[in-house]
Amino acid sequence: MDQVTFRSDTVLSDVHLLLPNTRHLMKRLNGVGQPVFTSKFRILRDIDGKDSSDDLPVRESSDASDVPRDEDGDLDVVRRPRDTTSDRDAVCPIILSQSAATSSDQDEDSDEEEESARDIIIIEHTMATPLEDVGKQIWRGAFLLADFILAQSSMFKGATVLELGAGTGLTSIVMAMVAKTVYCTDVGEDLLNMCQRNVTVNKQHFEPQESEIMVRQLDWMADDFCTDLEFSWTDIEVADLHDNTTFVIAADVCYDDDLTDALFRTIYRLSSNMRKPSTAYISIEKRLNFTLQHMDVSCEAYDHFRHCLDQLQQMKDGKMNFKVELVKISFPQFFQYERVEQLELWKVTAERLNK
Ligand SMILES: C[S@@+](CC[C@H](N)C(=O)[O-])C[C@H]1O[C@@H](n2cnc3c(N)ncnc32)[C@H](O)[C@@H]1O
Repeated sequence: MDQVTFRSDTVLSDVHLLLPNTRHLMKRLNGVGQPVFTSKFRILRDIDGKDSSDDLPVRESSDASDVPRDEDGDLDVVRRPRDTTSDRDAVCPIILSQSAATSSDQDEDSDEEEESARDIIIIEHTMATPLEDVGKQIWRGAFLLADFILAQSSMFKGATVLELGAGTGLTSIVMAMVAKTVYCTDVGEDLLNMCQRNVTVNKQHFEPQESEIMVRQLDWMADDFCTDLEFSWTDIEVADLHDNTTFVIAADVCYDDDLTDALFRTIYRLSSNMRKPSTAYISIEKRLNFTLQHMDVSCEAYDHFRHCLDQLQQMKDGKMNFKVELVKISFPQFFQYERVEQLELWKVTAERLNK
């Protein structure tokens, strides 16, 4: 029977689901553990930077007598052009191989690759994982944040940026194309090794302009910077982070209430130790589920995230002031993925009181 089955604790990012001919692949994933894939993601640079609604024809008059009619006298309504950026059939990444490419594959591909290397990000990742390994998959929130970074590149130019829960590192790589220093952080040696490999293989995107990505361990559950394991921080890096960071970014990191609480504690602690005012951009996908408890569709993880945002904004500790805003998703799409309406981007501005 050609049916996709997963263990009950398996989670699967939607990013690769729309690929043709991957059903058979998905079906095998449970049986063989977590095979590693390498995918390439093209940056679509020929975007004019306009909201698609800007291109709509504007009617001078709303008088119905002006509206064209067909031969039967019915109104001939001009339809909005189809928004191709949210096309449900969009094919997202191209899977290069199920493991590191062989040298002959690399030779064959190298000419084409070199030609378009400027616009291609290559990411090693897995596709279906237990919840504790979700960072090894790529999530739509990472693309939404990456789109925002490219759309607002002048804002991030030359900045020092901290990414929390970076996973495979895709968003940090995009950020390093414009920022000066990116602290790309997550937890777990295995994941950080994968992330470091992705950073290394994509260094042509940021090294020429002397930007750097530091892959480091930063556990929201811990109160301090890790200094004794692999991917640990030096004193100089911690000082640089506190002295120079002006942006914190995080993509799809709120899916478990305890982790969300820990994330917000971390954002509070770090931003109150930063010398400069900082702005956090957090993407989230509102995943709706039917629950027996509510007898309705709900998204408890999203509700908890909103509760944490409200708490942060209302907090009056005499030291910090936080302002929370929802960012309008009208910026262009530089990556091909399904920009579903459940995707949101939140801006949190942190300012120290009594300077
Ligand atoms: C859904 S993944 C998102 C990964 C990536 N940002 C993306 O959008 O593709 C959530 C990320 O949060 C990280 N995470 C979970 N608990 C964490 C913790 N205590 N400290 C730091 N990162 C954590 C996971 O390792 C994972 O990389």
